[in-house]
Amino acid sequence: MAKIPKASDVRGPRTPLLFPILTALLFCVFAQPGSCQKTTIIVTAAPAIPSTVPEFVSDAAFTSAILNSTNVYREAHNASEVVWNETLEAFAADYLDEVGAGCTFAHSGGPYGENLAIGYANATASVEAWGDEGRKYNFRKPGFSEATGHFTQLVWKNTTDVGCGRRLCGERGWYLVCEYWPRGNVIGAFQDEVDKSENSSTGIRPRWLSIATIGVFIWILS
Ligand SMILES: *[C@@H]1O[C@H](CO)[C@@H](O)[C@H](O)[C@H]1NC(C)=O
Ligand SMILES: *[C@@H]1O[C@H](CO)[C@@H](O)[C@H](O)[C@H]1NC(C)=O
Ligand SMILES: *[C@@H]1O[C@H](CO)[C@@H](O)[C@H](O)[C@H]1NC(C)=O
Ligand SMILES: *[C@@H]1O[C@H](CO)[C@@H](O)[C@H](O)[C@H]1NC(C)=O
Ligand SMILES: *[C@@H]1O[C@H](CO)[C@@H](O)[C@H](O)[C@H]1NC(C)=O
Ligand SMILES: *[C@@H]1O[C@H](CO)[C@@H](O)[C@H](O)[C@H]1NC(C)=O
Repeated sequence: MAKIPKASDVRGPRTPLLFPILTALLFCVFAQPGSCQKTTIIVTAAPAIPSTVPEFVSDAAFTSAILNSTNVYREAHNASEVVWNETLEAFAADYLDEVGAGCTFAHSGGPYGENLAIGYANATASVEAWGDEGRKYNFRKPGFSEATGHFTQLVWKNTTDVGCGRRLCGERGWYLVCEYWPRGNVIGAFQDEVDKSENSSTGIRPRWLSIATIGVFIWILS
């Protein structure tokens, strides 16, 4: 029997900060060589509370943002488009009602695949946090890992339907719950179900690039 692992969850916006920092580093190396040694990168911790963001407040904008972003990642990884499923949407909404004002950040333990996120600026940014885990996925050693579990569910080829709910959790921001059916992350099926990106837009970050980034970083410091 296929074993289903517990999926992981994400808290935003930790991952999205990495990219701007690396971009700033590379910008300073290639475009502003003289100014690098004096540059101080300040990472501000507290995001503004996005309580009125349309992608969370409006049902239509929410659904369309989830479908668009999900299907952009799926298309890049050779998976068919998913459709919105109201049964899954209702399941996610019921779970968020159950979780209540305490906003316990934990999986429902339900029968579907499930991705969680909290604290991202909008629905698109939440799905991108999941999809961008693909940069850490090792396609030569397919399988489940906490660090890439959202990505593998998102682009799982056998999944056809998605439905999500959201809840505003005070200063922690929006709590997003997405259900996927048929569920992904089935142990033993990763090789067949998670395809490489046909181009480098998602999913492939050559190993030499991170080595080069570390090299550049050391060079700046020295
Ligand atoms: C669709 O999703 C992609 C990936 O998240 C995003 O870059 C793009 O801006 C989105 N397009 C629209 C119209 O929201
Ligand atoms: C990557 O591939 C997908 C589908 O194969 C395509 O829709 C997308 O435009 C491509 N992106 C780039 C940057 O070439
Ligand atoms: C895309 O998926 C189809 C059907 O699952 C498969 O036959 C094909 O080899 C895949 N293409 C790539 C480039 O992975
Ligand atoms: C929506 O998902 C449910 C739960 O898996 C499934 O039984 C149902 O067939 C789906 N609805 C549609 C219209 O496909
Ligand atoms: C979503 O949030 C990201 C990150 O803050 C921002 O760059 C993007 O413009 C926002 N997209 C929409 C459609 O509001
Ligand atoms: C794909 O989904 C079907 C149900 O539609 C299920 O019976 C099958 O086990 C799933 N396969 C994988 C590899 O997830």
